[in-house]
Amino acid sequence: MIPVSLRLQNFLSYGEQCEPIQFDGIHVACLSGPNGHGKSALLDAITWSLWGQARTNTADDLVRLGQSSMLVEFEFLLGRQRYRVVRKRNKARNSQSDLQFQVRHEEGDWRALTGQGVRGTQERITETLRMDYDTFINSSFILQGRADEFTRRTPGERKRILGEILNLSVYDQLCDAARVRSREAGTQVQQLEAAVATLEREQDRLPALRAEVERLERSHTETQLAVEKLRAELTAILVEKERLDARRREREELARRLQGAEAEVTTLRSQLAAAARRVEEGQAVVRRAVEIRQAAQELDAVSREREAMTERLGELRTLEQEASLLQRRMQTTQHGLETKLELTRQRVRELRAKADQLSKIAADVRDLESQTTALDRLHEERAAYQARLQELAGEAAAAKVEERCRAEDLVKADERFHILKAASARCPVCESELPEPKRKELGWKLKEEKTALKEAQGRAIQRAADAKREDAAVRQKLQELESKLKTLLGMRDRLAQARQTHLQLEEAARELPEELKRAADLEAMLQAQEFAPEERAQLAAVEARMKALRYDRKRHEAVSRRAGELAGAERQLHALERAESSLPEDRKQVEHLEAAIRLREEAMAEDRAARAAADRDLTRAPAVEAEAARVRARMEQAEREEARAAQQLGGAREALQRSTDLAAQIGARRAERDAAAADQAAYEELSKAFGRNGIQALIIENALPEIEAEANVLLGRMTGGQLAVRLKTQRELRAGGQAETLEIEISDGLGPRRYELYSGGEAFRVNFAIRIALSKLLARRAGARLETLVIDEGFGSQDQQGREGLLEAIQSTQDDFAKVLIITHIDELKEAFPNRIEVTKGPMGSQVTIY
Ligand SMILES: Nc1ncnc2c1ncn2[C@@H]1O[C@H](COP(=O)(O)OP(=O)(O)O)[C@@H](O)[C@H]1O
Ligand SMILES: [Mg+2]
Repeated sequence: MIPVSLRLQNFLSYGEQCEPIQFDGIHVACLSGPNGHGKSALLDAITWSLWGQARTNTADDLVRLGQSSMLVEFEFLLGRQRYRVVRKRNKARNSQSDLQFQVRHEEGDWRALTGQGVRGTQERITETLRMDYDTFINSSFILQGRADEFTRRTPGERKRILGEILNLSVYDQLCDAARVRSREAGTQVQQLEAAVATLEREQDRLPALRAEVERLERSHTETQLAVEKLRAELTAILVEKERLDARRREREELARRLQGAEAEVTTLRSQLAAAARRVEEGQAVVRRAVEIRQAAQELDAVSREREAMTERLGELRTLEQEASLLQRRMQTTQHGLETKLELTRQRVRELRAKADQLSKIAADVRDLESQTTALDRLHEERAAYQARLQELAGEAAAAKVEERCRAEDLVKADERFHILKAASARCPVCESELPEPKRKELGWKLKEEKTALKEAQGRAIQRAADAKREDAAVRQKLQELESKLKTLLGMRDRLAQARQTHLQLEEAARELPEELKRAADLEAMLQAQEFAPEERAQLAAVEARMKALRYDRKRHEAVSRRAGELAGAERQLHALERAESSLPEDRKQVEHLEAAIRLREEAMAEDRAARAAADRDLTRAPAVEAEAARVRARMEQAEREEARAAQQLGGAREALQRSTDLAAQIGARRAERDAAAADQAAYEELSKAFGRNGIQALIIENALPEIEAEANVLLGRMTGGQLAVRLKTQRELRAGGQAETLEIEISDGLGPRRYELYSGGEAFRVNFAIRIALSKLLARRAGARLETLVIDEGFGSQDQQGREGLLEAIQSTQDDFAKVLIITHIDELKEAFPNRIEVTKGPMGSQVTIY
């Protein structure tokens, strides 16, 4: 791992804005600056970015105080590849972390190698570096105060770290794989052994199997014979059963035939009974032949007479209807005449009443005529009054105008008088001289004029009042006249009506005698029954015809009764005729039917005998069927047994065959088992060989002298050959024997002593020598040049001589590393290195400058 660039943001003493540190172009550099200015912080930034570990495990404490999040971006080379890690932490948001891991391709663009979450990405980084934090700080990264990291570990931990440096985990993997293979081969051996045992057991059973096959063959033959015997038995029984089945069918046929014959005989018997009845009835009728024929003749005569009488009765009824119609018509006419008479009488009464009023109406007319003669005069009077009212309106208006004119004149005269009174020697009108006498004269004249005007005004007022008074009087008279006129106009209307009434009454008086005569005529006609002469004549004719019919009701009833009594005669005559014609035929049919029935009954007796015989035969059937079922069941059982025996025989034959083939199989399995056992042994050996105590121990054993020699070369250079180390892998046990270990033994001129008993300066030099030796080994095993050496504050514990030795040791080994960074706060050491990186802290945080 060779640093390329490092960028910090709010990491420990570094602030928000901080230029990235570029490491390219530097081989050996001194990182200097006062205490607490942020030198070690840069190393923390590198380990934190790569593994998330630094001086403290509480990452939040690394965030610059007052800030909530920090970031470190670190670019480095590993072999030919260039990688970049960006790690962030946010204290504020529940301590969220973010980790990005990228590799740069030849084209210069970055490709993500980020895994599943922060943990996954971390695994990728550790895998890529092929080193964990512990190994890193135990080899070439010598942190401040932790130079003794390797020396102070327990022997076991030292072995583990050395193992990792030597990449012994490869052998662990090989060891595991060999163990798995060995276990698999072991399982296979067990399985194959079990299989061989099974096969051998089977092979032992061969003679027994042979005997079993023979036994089974015998018993199979026995079962076959049993089946054959039962089958023959069953066939015989089935033949008998078949015969009985045929017999049953025959019996059923007989039963069916008997049933048909019985039905036929029943039909024939009922036909015979009917024919016998007909013969009997026919004979009875023929015996009464004379009597029946006489009754039939009488019925004929009586029926004819009744028909004639019924016809006459029909005619009589028609005539009765005609008569009643005529009587109704005459009645209607009489009613009409009576109504007319009543109306005429009513009219006579009305006319008489009117004639009585006539004289009174005439007097009324005369009276009204005399009263309405004044009407014309009153019209004239009204016109005169209306004319006078118009005149009076004109007078009143003229008087009003006069009065207003005079009033205006008076006002003007008053004005002139006042002016005259106030005036001096001049006329106010013509501006001429106005002497006193003249003025007085004018005054008098004016006074007279005013008096005359007042009088004229008084007269005009008087005239207007007069006109008003007369107007009221005339209006009063006109009103009275109007009401009189109204009354008279009403009378004139009444007069017109009275005249009209008078005319009507005169007319009625003229009509009266005529109506009186009409009423008298009608009364006479009704009295004498002289109306409807035509109907009267017709009625008489109808009555005469009815008499002429001479219909006898009693005779009609007697004839009808006799006809009823003889009603059956005709029917009996028919029956007699029918019997006389059909009797011989019926007698012949009776004989014929009796013969047919006899024949049928003989056949049926035969069939019944046959049926009884069949029934006797069939009593055996249930026993035969039961026997058949029993034998069939036994045969089926025997068949099943035969099948089972055949199956067992087959199985046994197969087993026998298998056993015969076994020898070859057993041989093959045994060979497989031997091969597997050989494999198991070989893998077992391998797992031991790859194990901790095998090749791994050997490698460590071989590496240790190398480390020892390298460390002692450096130590010799730093201490002038005073100090030397020895690495021991075995320790004598008190109880005897030896234990595996990794002890570091240090000795000086006096001899070996425990690590704790050396001074700080001496111890640092020992640690430094061992660490450099480990780093070189690491580099060599990886097949690459050692990459980066970092020593943080290694000079602090050294005196002048020690510093020089240390410087010399660094110079002697610096070409083995691609980068060497020496951190120190001691100013005079700055000059000892070709490059200088200066760290200073200001208010904005730590800053880095490269010289
Ligand atoms: N969380 C923090 N925020 C700010 N400064 C811190 C924080 N933690 C430690 N420091 C300071 O940062 C500085 C770290 O210096 P360091 O790199 O150890 O010094 P040196 O240059 O001596 O190696 C110290 O002054 C320390 O007090
Ligand atoms: Mg420091």
